[in-house]
Amino acid sequence: MQNWFDLAFERACRKFARGAQLAAAQGIIPYKSVDGKYVESPFDGNSWWTGGFWPGIMWQLYKATGEEGYKAEALRVEELLTRELRTFDLLNHDVGFMYLLSTGAHHRLTGDAQAATDTLHAATILAGRFNPEGFIRAWPRRERAGYAIIDCMMNLSILYWASEQTGDPRFAKIARIHADTTIREFLREDGSSCHICVFDPETGKVVERPAGQGYCEGSSWSRGQAWALYGFTLSGVNTGDQKYIDVARRCAKYFISNIREDGLTDSDFCQPKDEERIDNIAAACASCGLLELADVVGGEEGETYRAAAERMLRALNDLCADWSDEAPGILQKCTASYHDDGAGRHVNILYGDYFFVEALCRLRGTDARLWMAKI
Ligand code: GLY
Repeated sequence: MQNWFDLAFERACRKFARGAQLAAAQGIIPYKSVDGKYVESPFDGNSWWTGGFWPGIMWQLYKATGEEGYKAEALRVEELLTRELRTFDLLNHDVGFMYLLSTGAHHRLTGDAQAATDTLHAATILAGRFNPEGFIRAWPRRERAGYAIIDCMMNLSILYWASEQTGDPRFAKIARIHADTTIREFLREDGSSCHICVFDPETGKVVERPAGQGYCEGSSWSRGQAWALYGFTLSGVNTGDQKYIDVARRCAKYFISNIREDGLTDSDFCQPKDEERIDNIAAACASCGLLELADVVGGEEGETYRAAAERMLRALNDLCADWSDEAPGILQKCTASYHDDGAGRHVNILYGDYFFVEALCRLRGTDARLWMAKI
């Protein structure tokens, strides 16, 4: 009998083979899907932080199937994204997400030299956001010079990659300093994380920890927790430093202890219990982190992480995946931000689909390893 994840993968291929044509016809980088069409990002045009996930889906499917249509669509979007390197103004620390999954994937899977140069350009922009007081600045605008956010743990992979690529340790050193600050200032005793730390940019002292995309100050935004879980796992794998793996284990235990009865994930682990606000992106991302962590730690503990990931993925597949031909995206009930900022609540958002596809590829043994420093 066919595995659930093989069937899901086949369905994802059917959906995104059609989706590649639809997105190309629409001429956009898909951010979410509504009423049978893709919709582009709500803010900042092609500089919006999620632009890499669509080509990331294409590269994962290209790696798994060798179908040229996926590659062609990834390259169409790469052209749009590399133009943003010149406009520069709106780019922020999320150049890791944007370029590791587009130009970085292109270089990894084909050896293309220009794609490597563009990825290095993005890594240099990220390194340029480093404040020597010990953190990578998240966003532009004068009044946000001291803002750093947990999401950045995922962006560090492009810095580890850049050091491997060039033999220059500066990139990885910046990543490690930021990761160490994150352990000290973002993580709580119970393994949960805050979303934002505002540092005094002159002294590096924390002045505030606002709620960000979570429910309230002091709460636990589930996608932030997923970024921490997967991000520290990647720092561990990319540096070989056990300290980061141990932090990832704490983050994982907290996440697992908060999975809902039905296997889905609340948008914030501290949200009111009578509130139905789910974020399937968090679950898909955390599942990828747990599958990687399971391989790293092995044994019984590793089995626990793998089982939790499979339980969440099964719930996504059985309760929230729309496999109909009319729907251009897979996962429903994705929530961009707890207090809806217009970026989407309980809808299909394509970066949830990226992590779901990555997880399916992991289960099938074809993952393109797009976050890894070594090719
Ligand atoms: N990196 C922003 C978010 O997760 O929505």
